[in-house]
Formats: sequence, C-alpha cells, structure tokens
Amino acid sequence: MTLIESALSARKQAYSPYSNFMVGAALRCNDGSIFTGCNIENKSYSLTICAERNAIFQAIAKGNRDFKSIAIVGGADEFTAKTIPCIPCGACLQVLAEFCKPDFPILLADGVHLLKEFLPVLFNLPE
Ligand code: THU
Repeated sequence: MTLIESALSARKQAYSPYSNFMVGAALRCNDGSIFTGCNIENKSYSLTICAERNAIFQAIAKGNRDFKSIAIVGGADEFTAKTIPCIPCGACLQVLAEFCKPDFPILLADGVHLLKEFLPVLFNLPE
C-alpha cells in the first residue's frame, strides 16, 4: 500500500459532521513505521483536531519523532480527495516544523511538495 493509499484509508474514519470535509493523513517514520490520523470535529467547533496533527501526535506518543514523509488527502468525497490537493493548515505546518527539516516531503493528490514551500518561515522562540 502506498502512503497516499494509507491516508485515503485513514480518511474513511474522519468524524466531520459539521464541515462534511473528511481528511486523512499517513506519516512514515524513518524506522518504517506508519502512523495515520483523521480529522475529528466537535460541537464546540474549536476543539476539532486536524488529521495531520492526529497522526503526528500518535507517532510522538509511541516514541517516534524521526519522520520521513507525510501523505495528506481531503475532500467531501473520495474522488475529490484523490484528485484535488488538500494543503495542510498553518497550525499543522508549524507542528510538522517542530520535528521536520524544511525539505520534508509532503505528498498530496497532485504530487510531492516540501514543507518549506508551504511554510517558508515559522514561529521561533528568541535565542
Ligand atoms: N482539516 C484537517 O484535518 N487538516 C487540515 O490541514 C485543514 C483542515 C479539517 C479540520 C476540519 O475538520 C475540516 O478539515 C474542515 O476545516
């Protein structure tokens, strides 16, 4: 199974009754392990968690911080998810940047992008 296929499979678990937008993410670690996540919404809308952060946090909680790449798919239906790129939100990019280099590959429906393409600058604490 490709990483995009893993993300498509994870997308099926999305709980998104408020937006009807279903997102799946699959994070490959350098030891070969893969962690997946979907978006989970809440009536109290701001409690929603994105698919990407769900996958990243699951990996970290299991002791994996060494990431190789991430695949992300999203859309109301599977055809959209397979064909239209779902660009990660700024919050998820900042979380990725905590653990990944600027040239970290982000696999979307239209091909491979790099973290630095979507997040050229990031928040940093003063030295
Ligand atoms: N969402 C993600 O899962 N990842 C993103 O990078 C952006 C948005 C989710 C949050 C919400 O459940 C739905 O997509 C619509 O914003």
